Amino acid sequence: MRRAGTLSLQRRLQSGKPGVVIDGFTGVGGNAIQFARMHCKVVAIDIDPLKIELAINNAKIYGVESRIHFVVGDFLQQASSLKADVVFLSPPWGGPSYKNVKKFTLDLLKPKDGYSIFQIIRKITRNIIMFLPHNVDLLQVKELAWLSYPPLPLELKLEINLRIYLLLMAMIQIEENYVQNNLKGITAYFGNTARASRLR
Ligand SMILES: C[S@@+](CC[C@H](N)C(=O)[O-])C[C@H]1O[C@@H](n2cnc3c(N)ncnc32)[C@H](O)[C@@H]1O
Repeated sequence: MRRAGTLSLQRRLQSGKPGVVIDGFTGVGGNAIQFARMHCKVVAIDIDPLKIELAINNAKIYGVESRIHFVVGDFLQQASSLKADVVFLSPPWGGPSYKNVKKFTLDLLKPKDGYSIFQIIRKITRNIIMFLPHNVDLLQVKELAWLSYPPLPLELKLEINLRIYLLLMAMIQIEENYVQNNLKGITAYFGNTARASRLR
């Protein structure tokens, strides 16, 4: 199975120093392990101790456990004290019922709505990668790029609106992720993780 965005992640991270990556919702470590295999130092956080135990075991199988610092805890509570070059998030989608909605709006993400999660991680870095359902409202995802920047005064906002809009569109990239020809999810890249592929 191809992990979310792994191939293009490789290209993106190869274009600069890998640095430190936080995986805030590690689960059993699928993504954290791929980052470590790309020579990043990884901080892998999950609220569920059993998931972290399984992730440590999986990291050992891949021989990358020395590059991953595992933490049992609430990522959103710890975020304000964390530093990293990139934050990767694969937050819970609220169970299989995500498939039943035509458009998955960001308020359906867990443990908080997508806007709140993005605001919290934005304080760590602008270089953010999010794995989201295939039916996510893409307009809302693009709106998140706006949250990366401090609010502008209204007169300035009107004057340079179009220019800023075009700039922000360059600061986000969306990749579709397929598993056996089925669109499983999308990966949204913000900040330098979006720009890196253009540097090649
Ligand atoms: C969709 S899974 C992540 C899957 C992971 N990327 C993988 O490859 O296995 C979401 C994970 O977020 C964890 N989680 C939920 N709320 C959390 C929180 N506040 N802080 C940290 N982890 C949390 C859950 O325990 C779950 O393992």
